[in-house]
Amino acid sequence: MSDDYLWVEGVPFFKNFSPETVRQLRDDFVIKAEDVVTVTYLKSGTNWMVKILCLIRSKGDPKWIQSVPIWERSPWVETEFGYQLLSEKEGPRLISSHLPIQLFPKSAFSSKAKVIYIIRNPRDVLVSGYFFWSLVSSCKKPKSLEEYFEWFCRGNVLYGSWFDHIHGWMSMRDRESVLILSYEELKKDTRKTVEKVCQFLGKTLEPEELKLILKNSSFQAMKENKMSNYSFVDGIFLRKELPLLRKGISGDWKNHLTVAQAEAFDKLFQEKMADLPRELFPWE
Ligand code: A3P
Repeated sequence: MSDDYLWVEGVPFFKNFSPETVRQLRDDFVIKAEDVVTVTYLKSGTNWMVKILCLIRSKGDPKWIQSVPIWERSPWVETEFGYQLLSEKEGPRLISSHLPIQLFPKSAFSSKAKVIYIIRNPRDVLVSGYFFWSLVSSCKKPKSLEEYFEWFCRGNVLYGSWFDHIHGWMSMRDRESVLILSYEELKKDTRKTVEKVCQFLGKTLEPEELKLILKNSSFQAMKENKMSNYSFVDGIFLRKELPLLRKGISGDWKNHLTVAQAEAFDKLFQEKMADLPRELFPWE
């Protein structure tokens, strides 16, 4: 496995990343007070939250999300492209990241920048990741769900262990500038969760604007938006028409994990997460 990634301080990255850049990002990149950062472990609903944040900014008007790709609206700070773009951007920025906390730009922790961290049932993260990486050309493909299950449980996947990622970011949960949300609550009551995000950001919306945000960030609307599903990036990063939006539901893991896998995962979850309060994990 270890040859398939670039490892920086025990965390696996895409091979085209450089350790110097990752460290430089952590030590030198300046997160500003007016920035809004979305941080997630991969496949937890990043693109959904970014879309919502963009729509909050445009008061529900979909023009921006329909004409500009997500990596320009809310660049991933750890990518070379994102780093460059963010360094040149003026004014309040939307920033995305999958970095574990120990590699995230240090400046964020002394700034008033707002950070939204999304968690999702790791079983669904695992299944979503399996289907995604099975189709992506730039990363090692799992031969089977069984194989990917092993990788995931050991943290031998991009950005490392889900358990470590959650532990790291959960340590920030009492900060006023950090909002922890779950994919499950976003799914169960999108309206209420969007209102919660607005409150956190100090934004007020007219009822009509909120309605537009909900309409334009729905699974169906996102599926139809070329700028959301990456279908126009033919040959660069993903295969043509690769659906980033697969099923968009909670609990799909039940259709894919065997009873033995589910039991093994339960045991692992109990062992690894015993020190965190249960209510942080609404799916448990
Ligand atoms: P599934 O593969 O389970 O369908 P990320 O953006 O972090 O890569 O997460 C991708 C997951 O979020 C996918 O999960 C995708 O379908 C889901 N998702 C994206 N937009 C969504 C939406 N509007 N509603 C529900 N789920 C959404």
